[in-house]
Amino acid sequence: MAKARLIHVCSSCGAQSPRWRGQCETCGEWNTFKEQAAPAVSAGGGRSARSVPHGANAPVSLTGFSLDGATASPSGLPGLDRVLGQGLQPGGAVLLGGEPGIGKSTLLLQLAGKMAASGQRAVYVSGEESLGQLAARAKRLNIHHEGLLASCTTSAAEAASILSGPDAPALVVVDSVQTMASSFADGAPGSPSQVRAVAAELVEAVKKSRATLILVGHVTKEGLIAGPKILEHMVDTVLYLEGDRQHFYRILRSFKNRFGPTDELMVLEMLGDGLVPVPDPSTYFLGERDEKASGSAVVLALEGKRPFAVEVQALVSKSYLAMPRRTALGLDLNRLHLLLAVLEKRLGVQLGQSDIYAKTGGGLKLTDPGLDLGLIAAVLSSYYDRSVPPRAVFWGEVDLSGKVRPVAAHDARLKQAKRLGYTPVFHPPVEGRGAATLKDFQRALFGSGQG
Ligand code: TYD
Ligand code: MG
Repeated sequence: MAKARLIHVCSSCGAQSPRWRGQCETCGEWNTFKEQAAPAVSAGGGRSARSVPHGANAPVSLTGFSLDGATASPSGLPGLDRVLGQGLQPGGAVLLGGEPGIGKSTLLLQLAGKMAASGQRAVYVSGEESLGQLAARAKRLNIHHEGLLASCTTSAAEAASILSGPDAPALVVVDSVQTMASSFADGAPGSPSQVRAVAAELVEAVKKSRATLILVGHVTKEGLIAGPKILEHMVDTVLYLEGDRQHFYRILRSFKNRFGPTDELMVLEMLGDGLVPVPDPSTYFLGERDEKASGSAVVLALEGKRPFAVEVQALVSKSYLAMPRRTALGLDLNRLHLLLAVLEKRLGVQLGQSDIYAKTGGGLKLTDPGLDLGLIAAVLSSYYDRSVPPRAVFWGEVDLSGKVRPVAAHDARLKQAKRLGYTPVFHPPVEGRGAATLKDFQRALFGSGQG
């Protein structure tokens, strides 16, 4: 027997050190190192703890390996299947991340209900809610199926046993990884070492089963240390449910996917009876746009693979502050600063005495560089106090030199513009059409006598 060894473990991030330290080198926290007996198990999550009978994991030939039952099956929510690739993969582990209250439990209970409705068995394991709360939620979501089973436990071993039983259900939801406890690690539930150990235990169980595991992980505002980020490499698919609790829409996206694309997304709406897919999300973010108002422009912005029509608004008003104010909602403030500097330098538009506010419609957060041209259109429109043509649409990236640059998926955006009936279309130069510089763009939009 080896002599018991002592190690020091950071209670904040789980980092280990042979000797005590005042500050953790990994997470930077102070006075978080605690002395512990080194576990007989390596901190890898308990994989080596089980004594695997020799030969059970012996290498096998991939040629001729039976793929029976290895194909994905539809989940009952077509949009979700598209985001996942083909549907639920047997033996697959999916991580669903999102801020608390965004609708993860709602979505997964609905999914489990759909599975049950199609005659498959689904088990909802909750470490957060009581059976009564789950039943009340199922009632609110209009789910009444015998095949939907629930279990309230915080033990990762119990959840793993549901996955690995001889008649494992088709779907097991574990809500959430932060509330489960594993006996293969020390620390309180939710601590990084526990979160890792719980995920390792469950993922190992699902790999040997025909079930699909969906693990819920809360993303907290304070940081991602104990959240889903540290688990991304352990699972096959990472989905994030995003949105704004002030708004009704939610976007489900895939960030990593061993079985399908990573740029698919699904737009849902949180209603009184659960999350409902938005049938045609391409115009969902326009809201009630006033076409005659100045400072408003429609952009065909790329989210995932799809172009969405989104309203971009800008307000340029006289400033009474020593440092004029710049505010951006739903778009990057740095990008706004940059584009305003380009406007000043390349078009001679004087904005130094103006407060400038910019926002996207519907609360959608946009990072598409194709937003630039629409944002500039909105700023110029507010500055001149002249509206842009009512059905005009914009996309294009703007360089510091004032050049308009092509962006990804031009054809898809053009097709979408036609389908939605937008004209005129302002876009980067493609086959001799479109504005090559901001000067051309300004002239095309407001003529030579601006203002
Ligand atoms: P929830 O699924 O509990 O979020 P998470 O699991 O991500 O923490 O969603 C909670 C919010 O959703 C709560 O504020 C109430 C709202 N909600 C609805 O608007 N409609 C519904 O049908 C349900 C079940 C919840
Ligand atoms: Mg929840």
